[in-house]
Amino acid sequence: PWSAHPRSKERRYRSSHRLVLHYLVPCMNSYGMCIIDNFLGSKTGERILHEVQELHHAGRMRDGELASRGPDNTRSIRGDQIVWVEGKESGCENIGYLLSRMDRLITYADGKLGKHKIRGRHSKAMVACYPGNGAGYVKHVDNPNGDGRCITCIYYLNKNWNAKEHGGVLRIFPEGKSYVADIKPLFDRLLFFWSDRRNPHEVQPSYSTRYAITVWYFDAEERAEAKRRFRDLTASTGQQGSSSS
Ligand code: OGA
Ligand code: OGA
Ligand code: MN
Repeated sequence: PWSAHPRSKERRYRSSHRLVLHYLVPCMNSYGMCIIDNFLGSKTGERILHEVQELHHAGRMRDGELASRGPDNTRSIRGDQIVWVEGKESGCENIGYLLSRMDRLITYADGKLGKHKIRGRHSKAMVACYPGNGAGYVKHVDNPNGDGRCITCIYYLNKNWNAKEHGGVLRIFPEGKSYVADIKPLFDRLLFFWSDRRNPHEVQPSYSTRYAITVWYFDAEERAEAKRRFRDLTASTGQQGSSSS
């Protein structure tokens, strides 16, 4: 149900407003996740893919954080390479356009997503590449400890993805449910899910280059509280705080 959004049905959603009110909001409130396929269309999707490939091939990506290496020097937690992008950099204009379109949906949805009041997002998007060497990302929660992030939004860029052959499926284990959601990282697919403990998830080993762009939106109250905690912590330890947003 959270995954059914074939092209033929899109005519029902003539505007982003309708898409948000009739699909995104009810889907999030029922399932805690929501997929929108063919989000921008293939022309725009291809321009974004091209920018991401340029970042990758220019060597701009670095190992993701938490990338501890096991005894055999394999990366045991996450095997992606990432670069943070604001969307205003030269060569990132189409990524910037994607971010503005994500923001628009969230703006329309604000006030209707559970009890959340959404205020802003992580100022940069995480552009990630799993190189296709079998690396994935072990089961985790994006925001286990109330850092303020409430919605994870991921845009996938992978054409002709065959999960049987290429793996790379995102598996979500909704808290308290008996099912899992397996989400293929398909080209021009947009995914939303709650960032907190309601949605543990993993990226299964990927055997082909897998690109995605992730953005996190903040819950106003939780973010303010997290900032207060951070400030108190840095005050009491005498450390100099450096907060991203
Ligand atoms: C995350 C996250 C930041 C990073 O995966 O939830 O915050 O630097 N990643 O990889
Ligand atoms: C992450 C993550 C999922 C994906 O980076 O935190 O869970 O499908 N990514 O790329
Ligand atoms: Mn994650």
